[in-house]
Amino acid sequence: MDRRKFVVGVGGLLLSTGGVKSASAETKDGLVMPSKACKTSVRHTPGPYLTADNLIRTDIREDLPGAPLQLALRVTHSLWCTPIEGAVVDIWQCDAIGRYAGFQNIEFDMTTLRVAGMGADYSSESFLRGRQVTDENGVARFTTIVPGWYFPRLPHIHVRVILAEQVWTAHDIQLFFPNDLIDAVYETEPYAERGPMPFDIKRDIVVKGDKKLAKKTTIAMAKDGEGYAGDHEIVMEGL
Ligand SMILES: [Fe+2]
Repeated sequence: MDRRKFVVGVGGLLLSTGGVKSASAETKDGLVMPSKACKTSVRHTPGPYLTADNLIRTDIREDLPGAPLQLALRVTHSLWCTPIEGAVVDIWQCDAIGRYAGFQNIEFDMTTLRVAGMGADYSSESFLRGRQVTDENGVARFTTIVPGWYFPRLPHIHVRVILAEQVWTAHDIQLFFPNDLIDAVYETEPYAERGPMPFDIKRDIVVKGDKKLAKKTTIAMAKDGEGYAGDHEIVMEGL
């Protein structure tokens, strides 16, 4: 993603959070206290595919096929609405046909929706997992692919943000995609071999039909050359 597009993207994020707001308030006795100016982002379960460690790298594709995605994640502070530099950002996701590295995958029968048996064993693989540290603008960047789907989930990317190696600050969130983008991408190879996405917002076990929640956690996407550019802001708990 070129710099100009990213600046536009960040501008959009600032607008979506109301821009720079008053981050302090004077009390009766004259003390200036921070006020909660930016709403903390929603938290999700990390799910069953979290691993203890990830490689530090921007490009997490390991040559896997799929629609290219330049993902920029911006980490900000809920009290001050300012970027957080030095936050550790991990992402992990499935490949174009719904399989995670680091695990023995499970196959589901799509008719009965029951576990059908063990799938690919990727427990010694590391694809589509990575770690970056946010820069002075609070941004961590990754080069990845649009994920495929797996049972019973909407396509998503998992994110964990930890501030300055303080494990207790871990903020887990799952980021989703606009439906029209997913429909278009899933008509192309290698996604097309599995057909259209069979799940909707009501059948996702994390979103559970909550449209507001899904909207708040949908990545802002734009076409970018042969692939896509996406950005999202994660507002961390005030510390
Ligand atoms: Fe997942």
